[in-house]
Formats: sequence, C-alpha cells, structure tokens
Amino acid sequence: MKILVTGGAGFIGTNVCEHFAEKGAEIIILDNLSRKGTEKNLRFLKKKIEGLKFIKGSITNWKTVKKIFEKNNFDIVFHLAAQVAVTTSVTDPRSDFEINALGAFNILEGARVTDQSPIMLYSSTNKVYGGMEEVVVEKKDSKHYGYRDYPNGISEKFGLDFHSPYGCSKGTGDQYFIDYARIYGFRTVVFRQSCIYGDHQFGNEDQGWVAHFLISAVNNKPLTIYGDGLQVRDVLYVKDLVNCYEKAIEGIDKVKGQAFNIGGGSDNVISLLEFIDILKDLVGHKIEHQFENWRPGDQRVYISDISRAEKILGWSPSYNVEKGIEKLNEWVKNNKEII
Ligand SMILES: NC(=O)c1ccc[n+]([C@@H]2O[C@H](COP(=O)([O-])OP(=O)(O)OC[C@H]3O[C@@H](n4cnc5c(N)ncnc54)[C@H](O)[C@@H]3O)[C@@H](O)[C@H]2O)c1
Repeated sequence: MKILVTGGAGFIGTNVCEHFAEKGAEIIILDNLSRKGTEKNLRFLKKKIEGLKFIKGSITNWKTVKKIFEKNNFDIVFHLAAQVAVTTSVTDPRSDFEINALGAFNILEGARVTDQSPIMLYSSTNKVYGGMEEVVVEKKDSKHYGYRDYPNGISEKFGLDFHSPYGCSKGTGDQYFIDYARIYGFRTVVFRQSCIYGDHQFGNEDQGWVAHFLISAVNNKPLTIYGDGLQVRDVLYVKDLVNCYEKAIEGIDKVKGQAFNIGGGSDNVISLLEFIDILKDLVGHKIEHQFENWRPGDQRVYISDISRAEKILGWSPSYNVEKGIEKLNEWVKNNKEII
C-alpha cells in the first residue's frame, strides 16, 4: 500500500504517517516544512519509519506535484498540507489562496492527469459553515456559551457560508474534492474538522489552541484570550481522527464524494475558561491570562454533530476530554527539550 501524505510533517500528518506505517504502508511525505516544529516531527518520523521517503517541496508547485504522481502509483492520498491560520489568511490572502485552493486543486489534478484513482482524503474545516450569525447562542453559565436550538451540534445539512480568506480557500478545496467524485468518479472523502489536538502539535496563538494553552501553562507563560473566554469548541484527540480516516478508507464505497463533520461532538465540549481551570489543576499553579478583542471569523460556539459519521462509518471518539488532555500532557512532558 503506497500512501502520499501532503503536510506529513505537520501535527495531524505525523500521526497519520506513524499509524499507517505501523500497518505496513509505504509512506511518501510532501511538505515544505513551513510550519514551526515540522523539522522535529520529521526527525521523529525518520527515526520511527524505515524507508520513509520525504520530498521537500510545495503543493503550489504544479511541476513538483505532477512529477510525484508520475513517479508513483498511490493507493491513498491524504491531503493535509495547508496554510492553517485564519489570522495569516487575513494578512496574506494571496498565499493562503495559493496554498489552500490551488494546492488542493494541484493534488487532485496530479491524480487525474496521471490516470490514477487513489482514495483521496481532504482535511477541511468547520469554518466552511461561516460565522453562523443566525444560530442563537446563549450563555449556559458563567463560563460557557451554547446553542439554544442545536443540542447535538451542527450537521452537514447546514448551509455552506465561507467566512474569512481561510474559510474561502479551504472551502474551495472541500468543494473541488467533492466535485472530482461527481465529475471524474474519484474516491474522495472530505472531513470538516473541528478542533483537533494531541501529540506532535506545536500549537501557537494562531492555530492549535489546546496545545498552545497547555505548552504555555507548563512553561509558565501568560496567555491571551481573544473574546471573553466563554467560547466553546468540541475537541477531538488526534488518534480518534486517524481512526476515523481509517474507517472511511475501509468503507470508501459507501462514503466517496461525501463530507463529514468530525470533532469530539456534543459529549466533548469545552470553553476556554473551563480549559484554563483544567490546566490550573494539571500544572499546579495559577494560569496568567489577559483578554483582547474577538478575531474575525471566530465563532462563539462550534460543536460538530458527528452522528452521521457515527452511523455511516461506525466510528465514535474513544478519548474523552480528560483522557485526551492527559495524553497530550504526557507528550509535552516527555518532549520538553524540543517544545
Ligand atoms: N488541527 C486542527 O484543529 C484542524 C482543524 C480543521 C482543519 N485542519 C486541517 O488539517 C490539516 C492539517 O492541519 P495540522 O493541524 O496538522 O496543521 P500543521 O500546520 O501542523 O500541518 C500542515 C502542514 O502543511 C505543511 N505545508 C504548509 N504549506 C505547505 C505547502 N505550500 N506545501 C507543502 N506543505 C505545506 C506545513 O509545513 C505543515 O507540515 C490542514 O489542512 C488544516 O487546515 C486542522
């Protein structure tokens, strides 16, 4: 089984490579190592996976992408490489577009022009549903917003409403992956991911807030909360996401051309202020934090309705918030020298 993982040295990519290499797959990574921390992930993977092939290059470069597909016949392609921060997409929308929209298109085209039909997985985002201004959000208690009318979260039936350059560029990839299944019979699946966290995540203020908060707390660094801290997300431990990808591959004939909302679901929801309380207990000291204005495109609540994935893929999260954060904390503790 030959697998291409774009963005394979990133957080989710590293977990994907590790998992599928353990199953005996031959892995090729295409990554330009633009994200901080990726060279550390790559070092980890090279040690762990015998025969790992790494290509340093950009998904925006059509010649590079085409050559990779001409030289290899892939069974599976994980398209994970992306510009991942909403903030950066606002300050530099052109490169965001080139990486996320053109990059996704290049990967699909790589398969199409070389007449291959690998299973192709795309990591999309909940941001494709936009700011959801019409959804009524209410304060559930002093630390937590919630939906008034969506107790199980947002399902795939919710209308697309790309918001922010990142929402637009990732949403473009999302729609192209679905359309290549319709027009060219490709076996694509789209995962509209909520907040994913876990080992090998070098989170920062712009992306990967769970890891960013935990790493800052361990290092006794003050945190900035954009908004009032009552904002709520469903969070999913990365190993559960990888299991979900695997279920989709196994059931590809049932799911090709479809999009799934993936996250921790309504059972794994946490607000920023609640997370700060957990962190206080975890690290044993007060977590210094200050507040700034809301950032564009930030939803007050986002909770994925994962019931379709549960029903069709026979998947559900196996790590609850406490167990997942404990795992991430273990990874942070064991990797202090590289973080
Ligand atoms: N982590 C989350 O919570 C989350 C949520 C929703 C969607 N996603 C999506 O999942 C995917 C993986 O995210 P992640 O959290 O692992 O982020 P990450 O930043 O750790 O990984 C992205 C990888 O892509 C690489 N990359 C960036 N630009 C590239 C380019 N032009 N060419 C080649 N490689 C390039 C980076 O070096 C990095 O290794 C992304 O597509 C992201 O949009 C992540």
